[in-house]
Amino acid sequence: MRPAIEAMADTLLDAMADAGADGSAVEFMHDFAYLLPVTVICELIGIPEADRAAFRPVARDLGGVFELHDAATLPTINAAAVELLAYFTALARLRRADPRDDLLSDLLAISDSGDGRLSDAELLHNLTLLLVAGFETTTNLLGNGLQIILADPPAGDAVRDGSVPPPAFVEEVLRFDSPVQLTSRIGYDTVLAGVPVSAETEVVTLIGAGNRDPRRFASPSRFDPMRPDGGPLSFGGGAHFCIGAALARLEGSVAFPRLLNRFPKISAAGEPTRRDTLVLRGFDELPVTVA
Ligand code: HEM
Repeated sequence: MRPAIEAMADTLLDAMADAGADGSAVEFMHDFAYLLPVTVICELIGIPEADRAAFRPVARDLGGVFELHDAATLPTINAAAVELLAYFTALARLRRADPRDDLLSDLLAISDSGDGRLSDAELLHNLTLLLVAGFETTTNLLGNGLQIILADPPAGDAVRDGSVPPPAFVEEVLRFDSPVQLTSRIGYDTVLAGVPVSAETEVVTLIGAGNRDPRRFASPSRFDPMRPDGGPLSFGGGAHFCIGAALARLEGSVAFPRLLNRFPKISAAGEPTRRDTLVLRGFDELPVTVA
């Protein structure tokens, strides 16, 4: 998908250039960091362009399911899930009648083969998960990375002049400011650090803390894309390792050098605001000037 992602990124950068040509502030989170991943995942699944704008509030509501602390938001989360499932049910009906070259049509073919690999319900839930997991997280990778550059311009210069390869920069952003801070496991009868854990117990693993563990990473609070001890935990591990890791890494590796080369003078235009979330770590607003 690299050429498609490059083209999408350039279209968004064109719009940012127009909006910021007179020196006025552009809102990076909305104008780029959200739109790039959502466009990519919608293209991949096969969601028509006209439907995409309506997704942000619904998908953001559903993203609340990743946050562990607030039962009061459950009705909102449920309503968002019902809405997205209804949307995908209708879209699946369209694609069944008229298959295309997209992931939805491919998954429908598997589901309809009736070999038990993918039930209708699994298909719908996986589409919903792919949509939500596929962009809030990558949005935060892009925002967190840009904030590092705004606070420390030489980090951006190094990507711009090629002395730091974009994939190395992306890996270090993932480690330094992990877009997903924790994941969990259940169903293991085991002993962890001397503590017995039963199969019914949910174990929460703190990815962000692991990424800053001084026993694993030398000077963990230093941002150093060329560190030899890379390999962040940011995509989890084992059977549930993030299915979108390669896509997210590609989006980041395409986006950062293009953004920096297009806007050599990119700078902060006011205080960024962080989202008030526990699991997904990122910004609500990251205003910048580009001219
Ligand atoms: C920087 C971007 C991303 C980050 C930091 C991220 C992080 C994660 C993490 C931590 C997990 C849990 C892994 C575990 O528990 O071991 C996960 C799972 C998952 N991610 Fe991502 N993700 C990103 C992008 C994406 C994208 C682009 C997609 C879709 C194309 C995606 C789809 C999924 C899915 C479907 C799962 C569930 C996998 C399973 O349970 O088997 N993610 N991701």
